[in-house]
Amino acid sequence: MARGTRTFAIRSATHEDLKAIVGIYNWAVNQTFATIDSEPLGTEEAAAWWEAHGKRSKLIVSTDDGGVIGWARLFPWNQRGFDIVEDLVYVDPVHQGRGIGRALLAELIKEARGLGYRTIVATIATDNRAGLQLHSKLGFEVVGTIRDAAHKFDRWMDITLVQLALEERS
Ligand SMILES: CC(C)(COP(=O)(O)OP(=O)(O)OC[C@H]1O[C@@H](n2cnc3c(N)ncnc32)[C@H](O)[C@@H]1OP(=O)(O)O)[C@@H](O)C(=O)NCCC(=O)NCCS
Repeated sequence: MARGTRTFAIRSATHEDLKAIVGIYNWAVNQTFATIDSEPLGTEEAAAWWEAHGKRSKLIVSTDDGGVIGWARLFPWNQRGFDIVEDLVYVDPVHQGRGIGRALLAELIKEARGLGYRTIVATIATDNRAGLQLHSKLGFEVVGTIRDAAHKFDRWMDITLVQLALEERS
């Protein structure tokens, strides 16, 4: 895929990608409100996170000549019995604005359909304009906002829940 002058590809993640995935995630932990986590993911946690991916989950990466430049994850949403999957999309800050987030999320939507889910959601910090816009562009609608959902960098964050219905209601 290409937008701008450089191309990138999307594929399933492998264990070898984990270090780069965690590196991109920990940048967001340390620098942004994109995640409520305020402690970087350590090696053991990262290994547990990898192991937690089951049959109805998916982890993909975008790559270019230099390696992994973004990743995205689908995983069952919170409660057993719900037919809901949640997404996460993270792009290396150096490579943002090139269409990589859009391509990753579009791929996840396809994967979610393939895995048989009916609904895909994301919980996004209400101040995270890029995250909200990305999801809105791909058809997600705002379900609601939870006020004071988390505390980070000495302030309270609101969280907006967005949803995309993968099937028409019959
Ligand atoms: C959100 C994020 C994944 C977007 O990735 P990206 O590769 O920079 O986004 P893209 O270039 O594919 O842009 C996709 C759409 O998002 C919107 N967008 C992206 N960055 C934006 C910004 N800073 N402000 C407003 N809108 C933005 C654009 O409208 C764009 O729409 P278009 O394709 O019609 O032009 C990236 O900013 C990121 O990794 N942020 C940190 C993690 C995060 O917040 N994840 C989302 C919550 S899970």
